[in-house]
Amino acid sequence: MGRPNYDVKDLALAGEGRSRIAWAEQEMPVLRQIRARFAAEKPLAGIRVAACLHVTTETANLMRTLKDGGADPVLCASNPLSTQDDVAAALVAEYGIPTFAIKGEDKDTYYAHISAALDHRPNITMDDGADLVSTLHSSRSDLLAGIIGGTEETTTGVIRLRAMAADGALRFPIIAVNDALTKHLFDNRYGTGQSTIDGVIRATNILLAGKNVVVSGYGWCSRGIAMRAKGMGANVIVTEVDPLRALEAVMDGYRVMPIAQAAPLGDLFITSTGDIHAIDAAHFALMKDGAIVANSGHFNVEINIPALEALATEVREPRPFVKQYILPDGRKLAILADGRLINLSAAEGHPASVMDMSFANQALSAEHMAAQGKSLEPKVYSVPEAIDKEIARLKLAAMGVAIDQLTAEQQAYLHSWQAGT
Ligand code: ADE
Repeated sequence: MGRPNYDVKDLALAGEGRSRIAWAEQEMPVLRQIRARFAAEKPLAGIRVAACLHVTTETANLMRTLKDGGADPVLCASNPLSTQDDVAAALVAEYGIPTFAIKGEDKDTYYAHISAALDHRPNITMDDGADLVSTLHSSRSDLLAGIIGGTEETTTGVIRLRAMAADGALRFPIIAVNDALTKHLFDNRYGTGQSTIDGVIRATNILLAGKNVVVSGYGWCSRGIAMRAKGMGANVIVTEVDPLRALEAVMDGYRVMPIAQAAPLGDLFITSTGDIHAIDAAHFALMKDGAIVANSGHFNVEINIPALEALATEVREPRPFVKQYILPDGRKLAILADGRLINLSAAEGHPASVMDMSFANQALSAEHMAAQGKSLEPKVYSVPEAIDKEIARLKLAAMGVAIDQLTAEQQAYLHSWQAGT
């Protein structure tokens, strides 16, 4: 007998997972339409897809779409803490999709699960953070010959892949789903904005009104976090290294200052910079008693937790997802979800309505890759503009929003240069 083709926490959770997957599906009208077309046309017939994504109800609906499109998909987690165990169970028991993901898995199990997904010998990779592609290139390069191409979901993954391409290391074409406007303008901003605040509140139950909330970074994710924290009555301070983004934050009405200046002021700190040690040992030394620190960036490197551990005399766990570090001077600093992305660790990630567009991009990019990948160079590609626009059109239609069209006169004007004042 071979190994079971899955590793999930408990298959008995499948019923609960199925019902939550159906609930999310109601909020994913664009993906539903794509699934119906895929079921009829089978554009992914015979294609083995290995997906390394957060195992959520929304991801389950993407996996169903790929399978209905004729693909043979397998799924592993893209973060050790983001898996919804009931969803993983349902994918295996209800939808017959091999899944390797357990919430809270250690690093070795995380990579063993990636390896198990690669054992599926994929033709297309679907990544969120580029751990699958990086493992494929470093320790499973024997599989490269079978790969047509891949897709990448997130900012951090796209940055890693561009670095691989610049080094001449990338061996197959990848579509940067994150770069689609129907992805980052909505998922990163409204999705991260809402789900990050949701994660902080579920973990702590603190009131945001009147608090000083320090948001590190002012990319699309941080913009959403700052906007939603402000909407709940917090006084938001932004820290940035890029002068244009910092200027934008000032003009959006936030106080902008270096993190060393913000450290003594903040009640809550949220990092979303994509870089290492945005909050470092020197900043912990300045924070006030009771300060809470969370991360919403892809990797758990943005807060220097080992430095805080080295300073602490004691660590307590007053609630799930909250670790309180007691310092020699008596101050208590809390880190949420061990610095892993708070929105997917302590909450459920972005709501389905926004993942609808992100995963429509994933499904259509996989279709594009299946059709065109063999003729593409090993580079990072944008989502074709036609796909991006079509997703926006379908989403508006699903929301019952109609828009105008250019008249022939307006079209002609836009293509002319003679007419001025
Ligand atoms: N990334 C952020 N939110 C997500 C979700 N709900 N499902 C999958 N990936 C996500």
